[in-house]
Amino acid sequence: MILAIETSCDDTCAAVVSADGEIRANVVSSQGVHDRFGGVVPEIASRHHVELVNAVVDDALAQAGAALPDLDLVAVTQGPGLVGALLVGVATGKALAAAHRLPLAAVDHLDGHVAANYLQPDPIEPPFVCLIASGGHTLLTRVTDPGGYELLGQTLDDAAGEAFDKGARLLGLGYPGGPALSRLAATGDPTAFDFPTAARVTGLDFSFAGLKTALLYKVRDLGEEETGRRAADLAASYEHAIVEALIARVERALAAEPDPRLAIGGGVAANRLLRERAAALGVPVHIPPPELCTDNAAMIASAARFVAPVSFPDYLALDAYATAHHHAL
Ligand code: KG4
Ligand code: ZN
Repeated sequence: MILAIETSCDDTCAAVVSADGEIRANVVSSQGVHDRFGGVVPEIASRHHVELVNAVVDDALAQAGAALPDLDLVAVTQGPGLVGALLVGVATGKALAAAHRLPLAAVDHLDGHVAANYLQPDPIEPPFVCLIASGGHTLLTRVTDPGGYELLGQTLDDAAGEAFDKGARLLGLGYPGGPALSRLAATGDPTAFDFPTAARVTGLDFSFAGLKTALLYKVRDLGEEETGRRAADLAASYEHAIVEALIARVERALAAEPDPRLAIGGGVAANRLLRERAAALGVPVHIPPPELCTDNAAMIASAARFVAPVSFPDYLALDAYATAHHHAL
């Protein structure tokens, strides 16, 4: 049995998962205090993690009907993310593991998003192409082993989730913007406005900065009143451009595979339009349920199964890291 803790951004998460990937508990406490700032304030996120983490861990254990002595492994997200926020989870994981002389697995958040695809009741096995699209990262990978991935392409500027969040902000929607923008888009016309999909970026890299700027100029041109009246059309056209930009690279990557299969992970994989477009690609597609796409600790426990655990007391020196380490196998 694995207890996992995830605190890389603004969600305080703990989960209990069995060695074969069955979720016994998956608790996510969203802080909900960042929307008035239009984004996550790192110092506030860290403080909230400190206040919430013990209760969230207790909740997960109680829901799983487990106690600390029942555990075989503690897992924690080591990075990438907000270092102050990560350190709360890392310190908590170390303390719980050390108190029971358990091993500790240090997990990469992005491996976690991939590993959401390995959880029960519908686990998949490599090889597959995996799109990881979250608030902080957008990458296209090839997974041949559950212990990691090979990087095929990544964003040259903003992440796809960041594009959703910034677009939502320009349209006066709250944070996190992805779900809000997507809800509004459902009532709009995706062909009303022609937003760029970075067609000039060749290969498997992404770019979303131009799209965000195009929306900014469009909102300025239309003026406040017209923007308000056409908000649903703007949202639908903007969402369409993000999703088509993602799908175009995914199709390119799949075309190079002898036996193409696709998996998706990260918060943007919760997006309804992306899920529909991916499902229509004509290859086998796996997307975790939405609650396993956005940040959670079950995916961290899942990834921990493929990480070499560190034994006590070696992990006491473990540190968090802020930026992605893409480890090729
Ligand atoms: O993976 P995640 O929960 O956190 C990070 O690792 O960043 O991803 C959060 C991102 C946010 O940018 C959020 O707006 C976006 O995922 N997101 C969505 C949806 N749900 C979450 N974007 C579009 N449509 C959604 N339904
Ligand atoms: Zn994430």
